Amino acid sequence: MSNRDSLEKYIRKNLKDRSFYIVTNREPYIHNKTFEGIEVTRPSGGAHTLLELIARVSQGTYIAHGAGSADKQVVDKNNCIKMPPKEKLFTLKRVFLSKKELEYFYYGFTNQTLWPLCHAVFVKPEFNPLWWESYKEVNRKFAQTVLDDVGDKKAFVWVNDYHFCLLPQMLRESGKDIKIGTFWHIPWPTYEIFRVNPWAKELLIGLLGSDLLAFHRGYQAQNFVQSVQRELEAKIGHEQSKIVYKEHLTKIENLEAGIDYQEIVDLNNKGKTIRRSFMTKLFGMDIPFLILGVDRLDYTKGIIERLKMIDRFFEKHPEYIEKVVYYGIMPQSRFHIPAYRAYAKNVTDLAEKINWKYSTGRWVPIHYTLNGLSGRDKVFQYYKQANVCLVTSLDDGMNLVAKEYVIACDAEKGSLVLSKFTGASNDLRYSTLINPYNIEEGADAIFKALNMDPKDRKIRNLKMRKELKERNIYNWAIRFIEKTLYE
Ligand code: G6P
Repeated sequence: MSNRDSLEKYIRKNLKDRSFYIVTNREPYIHNKTFEGIEVTRPSGGAHTLLELIARVSQGTYIAHGAGSADKQVVDKNNCIKMPPKEKLFTLKRVFLSKKELEYFYYGFTNQTLWPLCHAVFVKPEFNPLWWESYKEVNRKFAQTVLDDVGDKKAFVWVNDYHFCLLPQMLRESGKDIKIGTFWHIPWPTYEIFRVNPWAKELLIGLLGSDLLAFHRGYQAQNFVQSVQRELEAKIGHEQSKIVYKEHLTKIENLEAGIDYQEIVDLNNKGKTIRRSFMTKLFGMDIPFLILGVDRLDYTKGIIERLKMIDRFFEKHPEYIEKVVYYGIMPQSRFHIPAYRAYAKNVTDLAEKINWKYSTGRWVPIHYTLNGLSGRDKVFQYYKQANVCLVTSLDDGMNLVAKEYVIACDAEKGSLVLSKFTGASNDLRYSTLINPYNIEEGADAIFKALNMDPKDRKIRNLKMRKELKERNIYNWAIRFIEKTLYE
């Protein structure tokens, strides 16, 4: 089983004189001005939690967009600051974007073109040439930041996600000795969807600058290979895992991301929460069963479908009124985008409707917060208390919440109900799998999860934990670096 130490040793032995970089849009720590002075927080979302753990071990440089109101104030003249605040293990190098870049690159091309294009959720992607120009410019800006920092050194660059499709080729064209591994965290669509994108070729060519391009799942990797096959004159290896384009070889792999099993176990052992006071504080009374949802408020997460399942569950099982409560931790996200605002309104309207339908005066079924939780350890208290965790994504590259819940829940009391359309469903086969569009099936799954024999629950959770323990984040990172470095 790999752990922090084995990753550290692996990096030291294999990267030798190569400096280690991570390039990603979202920074792991954000400095904001508040009345009390400058506050450091950690943004919600999954991928940067993983990358931060790797940055800590590598002690390298983490290049990301500086989005906080005090981010500029705290960095040195090279836009760098050592992080985490106390341990100071790696360098966070911030790239600052203008308002127009933010609007066109982040809210435009990445999150209104690529995000809906890649998730099969029937939200139409928008194709705006101004956004595309900005996407190219911002990729260039990040690439230049890497290249300036690398100088004459050798480097290893871990490129993260759909924000930087063009960056791998830009690095490659510099002619420097850089090994480039790109991890794509979201699904890759089938060719029939991908081909509608006017810049399909450029995106593929950009990604093929990588030495390794990895996805969570085989079907995502296969979709990518098919897109290349149909769009570019590239040589595709027999086993489809190697593509040669303009004499450069890119390996295409599926490497499902794991999480830091031990970190979760340690966080979980930290504080003991008393069930009665936890429930009373949140809901004003001690309620026997808690159903939990933890997602960014995003239309890919199937939150409307989830609320409909809960509604149907109470319709079918009125004996659970006043006995079950749902708590949604759903921090608002990308709120500047109309589709996200509309979705947030639809979610809160539906929650209101369901609450009105069932409320008894002293009890309502649906509770939620639109804020993230302060501190990573906070969510674990909810995991520990939750009898059911509902993960209902309509399409999802992986979904790390599902994995975290299985490790952190009370093995005899907690059941995961999981969408089949998450990458995580392959690893979590002993959860209750559902098609999130099938509301009836979802309602029945909630009932089943609440009524499962505790022994059965425990067996399932322990089986899943065993796999998660072995195929953890450090194992993932080692495999990723290895496949980038060596053929
Ligand atoms: C997706 C992406 C991640 C990203 C997360 C949060 O899961 O795959 O790379 O960190 O969304 O998105 P945001 O737009 O808030 O950075």
